[in-house]
Amino acid sequence: MFLTDAEKAMRDGAEGPAVAAAMDLLLRYGAALDASRLCDIRNVAGTMTQPSPVKARLVKEHGWDKAFAVINLDSDGDFEVPPMAVPTCQLQHGFGADALGIVPYPKENIELQASGEAFYGRHGVNILATCTPYQVGNLPMRGEHCAWMESSAVIYANSVLGARTNCEGIASTGAASLTGKIPCWGNHLDANRYGTHLVDVQVQVDNFQDWGMLGYFAGGVAGEDHPVITGSIGQPDLTDLKHFGAAAATSGGVELYHIPGITPEKPTVEAAFGGAVPPSPAVYGPAERRAMYETLNEIGTSADVDFVLLGCPHASVDQIRSAAAALDGKRLSPSTELWIMAPRALKDVADRSGYTEVIQRAGGRVLADSCPAMSRAAPKGTKVFATDSAKQAHYLPAILGIEAWFGTLEECVDAAVTGRWNGGLR
Ligand code: F3S
Repeated sequence: MFLTDAEKAMRDGAEGPAVAAAMDLLLRYGAALDASRLCDIRNVAGTMTQPSPVKARLVKEHGWDKAFAVINLDSDGDFEVPPMAVPTCQLQHGFGADALGIVPYPKENIELQASGEAFYGRHGVNILATCTPYQVGNLPMRGEHCAWMESSAVIYANSVLGARTNCEGIASTGAASLTGKIPCWGNHLDANRYGTHLVDVQVQVDNFQDWGMLGYFAGGVAGEDHPVITGSIGQPDLTDLKHFGAAAATSGGVELYHIPGITPEKPTVEAAFGGAVPPSPAVYGPAERRAMYETLNEIGTSADVDFVLLGCPHASVDQIRSAAAALDGKRLSPSTELWIMAPRALKDVADRSGYTEVIQRAGGRVLADSCPAMSRAAPKGTKVFATDSAKQAHYLPAILGIEAWFGTLEECVDAAVTGRWNGGLR
């Protein structure tokens, strides 16, 4: 791999042992991928504070510096962690202290995480604590090279923002945060950013639920490649594309898509395929829409709902406001809980705007930092849950062994209030 003189100096220890260990990891990683060079980056979204048994043991026995070396740099070295070299944020992690007594989540994890936040905060990590860093001020520019984890954030950064990142891991983001470098391969390269599959939408897609189902279809069609979406789609907003991307990254492993005329990088179908003849389209019509709906609801058998989950990916302020409007003046069924997951910064906005109070008056909760899938925690005794998120409907049954219903916000609120699932495809 080609290295600049500055990169060679980092590798050889000129900036200390932690940076040298980070470069060593990046060079091993780059060699495995056959990357010809490193990219300069100024934006890392990774995870350092997320509690785990291994981290708990390392911190207890050796302290946070060692935990970072082992977990975030894949190194046995004994060194102090220097300040982050480039802007770095913590993605979603475990629940915080304000979830104690609400979420069945171990107090030891909360304490470990609080200790981690203090350590990493001192080292320059912005504790955004959300899977949607782009909703709370971390907005890379079009064309900017980044090192991000979290599949729903990666697909948003590449496709909606036109930034460039692969789906990185805990160690590669750790190394990137100390060096401002990441192997230049995959989505960083112009040649790898063209469309590979064409999806022709022949049924109107113009609401949150439909964008999720279309994303789930597009992921199934494209797998780990790049779908290009055309046809009868309305103008999506941030939440629609957040849902679309999370679903496409769930049913497939999509990290980049193009919607000519809407997403920024490829303004036409011709540009999306680099002038090549587009492939035969996969048609998304009424039958495919129904098939997606039925797939996302195939785990639900009992109509008795005991948990409703909104906010995956983490909710926007507008989504929280809509939930508050739907719950205003209502009361949850005594047998049902409702949680809305949000970035902590946006929960603060919801608190100050009065939305949280309306939701709490109905018996619901706005929770920050985490989610049931990430923390493997749902209300005790949950057997059946309902959600408006294709991603949670896909993952949570497998993670927690529960049944799932997928529907609209209104259907989910109705389930929370009645304790029954009455949804259906309109
Ligand atoms: Fe975020 Fe959890 Fe969904 S981390 S994308 S709310 S599975």
